[in-house]
Amino acid sequence: MLRTIWNALCRAIAWIGVRILLCGPVPQHIAIIMDGNRRFADRAGIDRKSGHGFGYDSLIQTLELCLDLGVRYVTVYAFSIDNFARSQEEVSALMELMREKLDLLVSNEGLATAKGIRVCVLGDLTLLPEDVRASANRAMAATKHNSITVLNICVAYTSTQEIVNATREAVKEALGLSSSKSGGSQLTNENDGRNSLKTLDSQITKESIERHLYTAGSPWPDVLIRTSGETRLSNFMLWQACHSHLAFCNVLWPNFSFRHLFWIIFQYQKSYRSLQHHWIKAQSFWIILQYQRSNRSLQHHWHKAQSFQTRQKFG
Ligand code: FPP
Repeated sequence: MLRTIWNALCRAIAWIGVRILLCGPVPQHIAIIMDGNRRFADRAGIDRKSGHGFGYDSLIQTLELCLDLGVRYVTVYAFSIDNFARSQEEVSALMELMREKLDLLVSNEGLATAKGIRVCVLGDLTLLPEDVRASANRAMAATKHNSITVLNICVAYTSTQEIVNATREAVKEALGLSSSKSGGSQLTNENDGRNSLKTLDSQITKESIERHLYTAGSPWPDVLIRTSGETRLSNFMLWQACHSHLAFCNVLWPNFSFRHLFWIIFQYQKSYRSLQHHWIKAQSFWIILQYQRSNRSLQHHWHKAQSFQTRQKFG
């Protein structure tokens, strides 16, 4: 009885909190490093897989709050490439949980199905066991037409691997090499090499690399949250989070609740003006840089054309 009253009270408070936050700018994209599942399990005296299971429940609750707030993109760090170094037992348990929860998410009763969430699993999926990769592909295919919110789940992911991969793809694109020809270009002479270098110099840009990041299609995160009191980014979205509002909170991920999210978004709203200012400054700096670059190359062509005309005129 008391518990029912308590739950109803919490729901009412969350409802009011959401209305308050909706009066200000709401982040379009929230990224989360869900940290502290094992410490939660150790403190609660339960096994670690159950700790990660409670972490998944916390993700679902947070996702529901994000939906109420109208957040369009949520990106979570579910498994880093470095996590493969954990004990065989824990990696297997986590992979099994991942497969189970991905299937649940997109089942008939799953949140993604019920609320129109598009699930994208990002990372080097070739590193995953076959069955987890199959679940990931199924989840992505089943939800590809959903458009209310995008849930990016980063698995077998590190930001540095993502940037290296994107750079490789951008180079292949610039040189016109399809992935089927990924054996690499055979440069036949020195001229070919020089031309390729020129192409790379002009075509490998910030945009060409961003087009190949796993998160291409999602805007950059406005807010990046890390729980459990750690104040590191641990190789998560290093490129995309360059202007994000960073929020480190002491709570362990399974205990993350509305009051933590409320406080983080409230802080984000307080710093919104100055964040916008940095964004605009960075963007206009980039536009000026691009303009100067193309201007230099235009001038170069201009001078070449002029000296050609002069040579024609005066022999
Ligand atoms: C970090 O806490 C958490 C993880 C490595 C796993 C998180 C995974 C989930 C919550 C399941 C997600 C599943 C889907 C399908 C999205 P930790 O293990 O590093 O804990 P610690 O910091 O206390 O050691």
